[in-house]
Amino acid sequence: MRFDIITLMPELLESPFNHSILKRAKEKGLLHVHLHQLREYAINKHGQVDDMQYGGGAGMVMMCEPLSNLIEKLMSERKYDEVIYLTPDGKNYHQKIANTLSLKENVLLICGHYKGIDQRIRDLYVTLEISIGDYVLSGGELAAAILVDSIGRLIPGVLNDETSALTDSHQDGLLAPPVYTRPAEFKGLSVPDVLLSGNFKLIEEWRQDQALKRTEDRRPDML
Ligand code: ADE
Repeated sequence: MRFDIITLMPELLESPFNHSILKRAKEKGLLHVHLHQLREYAINKHGQVDDMQYGGGAGMVMMCEPLSNLIEKLMSERKYDEVIYLTPDGKNYHQKIANTLSLKENVLLICGHYKGIDQRIRDLYVTLEISIGDYVLSGGELAAAILVDSIGRLIPGVLNDETSALTDSHQDGLLAPPVYTRPAEFKGLSVPDVLLSGNFKLIEEWRQDQALKRTEDRRPDML
């Protein structure tokens, strides 16, 4: 799977994909991430990519021409399954969207800044608008990193049995149950007996029960 990311701050996206699971996905040739500096498509030699908004009001708007020129150049090189704009007024991101997107081949992500991008770019090119939560970030880059991370680990072949996504929180509509490792006792707190019993049927029932309790307690909206 390939991500192309349009950004004014590529430095923010240089590290997140070079560690752990995503690093391995890249090494295996299953994940490709390409960053594109929008500033290179500025309308003048001052590097201008934004302007004041029509109608007045505080905050700059990212202009049509630089975005359109870069998007059309990328579109002339490959067909995108989705063109996603990261924005706080987008559709709320969740695991089901990640699952669906992990089956795509080419995805283009657009990171906004300031007041966002000119509406006409959204009307002309964007196929999906995503918000990662009800708060406002300084730009779309951290949201883009979250998308690539959460989708990248789901690409078929990226996770092995040990890191399987099937038992993750949200994957089956429940939060994940608590987990423990050695030692069996720590500062007076013991690992639940059932986990030491070797009875896998009981362990599975316990985990299911804990997942349900945790979800009821913390996220009743999910049930
Ligand atoms: N850009 C700024 N805030 C954002 C958010 N909450 N989600 C996605 N992109 C954003």
